[in-house]
Amino acid sequence: MATSDGNAVFVLLLLCTCFVTTTLACDTSGAKFGYVGSVGPAHWGSLNPNFTRCSKGKNQSPINIKTSEVVYNPKLEPLLRNYTATNATLVDNIVNVELRYEDPAGTVSINGKKYSLKQMHWHSPSEHTINGHRFPLELHMVHKDEHGNVTVVAFLYRFGRPDPFFFQIQDKLFELYAEGCRADKGGEVSAGVVSMMSLRQHAHMYYRYAGSLTTPPCTENVVWIILAKVREMTPQQAVALMAPLEASYRHNSRPTQRTNGRTVQLYHRFWSNEETSSP
Ligand SMILES: *[C@@H]1O[C@H](CO)[C@@H](O)[C@H](O)[C@H]1NC(C)=O
Ligand SMILES: *[C@@H]1O[C@H](CO)[C@@H](O)[C@H](O)[C@H]1NC(C)=O
Ligand SMILES: *[C@@H]1O[C@H](CO)[C@@H](O)[C@H](O)[C@H]1NC(C)=O
Ligand SMILES: *[C@@H]1O[C@H](CO)[C@@H](O)[C@H](O)[C@H]1NC(C)=O
Repeated sequence: MATSDGNAVFVLLLLCTCFVTTTLACDTSGAKFGYVGSVGPAHWGSLNPNFTRCSKGKNQSPINIKTSEVVYNPKLEPLLRNYTATNATLVDNIVNVELRYEDPAGTVSINGKKYSLKQMHWHSPSEHTINGHRFPLELHMVHKDEHGNVTVVAFLYRFGRPDPFFFQIQDKLFELYAEGCRADKGGEVSAGVVSMMSLRQHAHMYYRYAGSLTTPPCTENVVWIILAKVREMTPQQAVALMAPLEASYRHNSRPTQRTNGRTVQLYHRFWSNEETSSP
């Protein structure tokens, strides 16, 4: 099969060149925070006066979602997402790999308000956990309204079949990776037109809660929408998404935070009156 052969070559290339980068000490001094040691999550709050929310905030993310404690809310609406295929840029942010949209890429509607898609990025392993279970990967689609209020739509991934979305950016990931140690200068490559079509599926059930950005400055009042349906990708795809990053940032997951009494609400399409009463 042509695709799996192509995949195998890609992985082989990654593995060979990975070896080279891991032996080079990349300069990541441009990063304002990290995931290990003195710049790790436990110290974020004191790294910069603007980061105090990371240690003092009471509504922080990520959290562990206990499915026995989620509250079904029949008033929650279906996830209304209207994305358009648009030009994107793949960016190495040192701390993660991001797909950034310069042009309007579409919106998600929450309580009748529209939030525009700005960027998406990946964390490995997952930041949110379900009943204490951590997944290999988590994708965050970051949306903002005109006041800067943030809504993140998150997807959890387990290892399994290939993720079709990934194929649109795999060559660009490799290009970014091949740039090597330019991370400290903010490497980026044009990714061309990227379609969000495959990410619109499986929204029958989602969790929703009020949290924060999972990276400094840990800004709060972020609406989190976490799709309950766990998606799949191959281990090779997960490796490729982290490969452009310097070794210490390939594990870029913030530990779960206290809920402090916050409830996680559940939307379930088949339980809502609206849907069950329609033919
Ligand atoms: C804190 O944030 C403000 C506004 O973004 C910025 O001007 C300032 O330089 C930041 N302070 C530090 C210490 O980074
Ligand atoms: C989706 O967005 C496009 C362009 O942004 C717009 O023309 C269209 O009406 C929107 N569709 C819905 C169902 O909101
Ligand atoms: C994407 O960018 C190319 C080159 O700048 C341009 O020709 C094309 O029209 C753009 N496509 C979209 C959907 O914006
Ligand atoms: C959005 O931001 C505005 C201005 O900061 C604020 O007044 C409003 O409450 C926010 N809305 C939501 C839904 O968070």
